[in-house]
Amino acid sequence: MNVGIREWKIEDKKDLSEILNNMNILNNLRDGLPYPYTEKDAEEFIKAILSSDKEKTFAFAITLDDKVIGSIGVFRQENIHYRTAEMGYYIGEKYWGNGYMTEAVRQVCDYVFEHTDIVRIFAEPFAYNTASCRVLEKAGFTCEGLLKRNAYKNGNFVDMKMYARISHRGIVNEQEDYG
Ligand SMILES: CC(C)(COP(=O)(O)OP(=O)(O)OC[C@H]1O[C@@H](n2cnc3c(N)ncnc32)[C@H](O)[C@@H]1OP(=O)(O)O)[C@@H](O)C(=O)NCCC(=O)NCCS
Repeated sequence: MNVGIREWKIEDKKDLSEILNNMNILNNLRDGLPYPYTEKDAEEFIKAILSSDKEKTFAFAITLDDKVIGSIGVFRQENIHYRTAEMGYYIGEKYWGNGYMTEAVRQVCDYVFEHTDIVRIFAEPFAYNTASCRVLEKAGFTCEGLLKRNAYKNGNFVDMKMYARISHRGIVNEQEDYG
């Protein structure tokens, strides 16, 4: 499988706008993305990512044989949560069901745990988003709980699940580490 992750390029704006111009994707994400999602919107997103703080934002295009098929990002949290990060992702609808996102999630987690001091990556899919929950489980995440009525989306309260993958890298004595 030739799925990879790489830095965004401005030229990816066409592929990105085609992928995101789809309510079946937007309905599973947080609010705030415009619909229709134009090439200009995509260009603004890519520019923002390219100028973001490289210690806090780890965002990649997902590629299949170097064509962009999706997006994945890991975002460092603030304050006492600065050694944790939230992950978000989506893939173009025509590419669903081929194991591509599972592979991308694995690659991004490996990258972040290897190149940063982040020890916890979490994701909060809507509880009914079975495909996303399954991706996380296949990529080594554990479901830590159900967050009831945690979001209000499209006029409805929705439950979410908290999934996390922990890195034990550099921890010699876990008891000691927790202090
Ligand atoms: C969720 C999403 C990223 C999955 O990407 P993908 O490349 O299709 O995922 P994969 O092929 O790696 O794995 C999907 C798994 O979910 C399973 N699945 C898919 N739909 C399912 C359903 N309705 N019920 C049960 N399982 C389902 C697949 O069978 C597969 O599991 P398997 O390998 O054990 O058979 C993609 O559907 C997407 O982008 N959705 C819209 C945006 C989104 O939901 N983002 C995540 C927000 S938290």
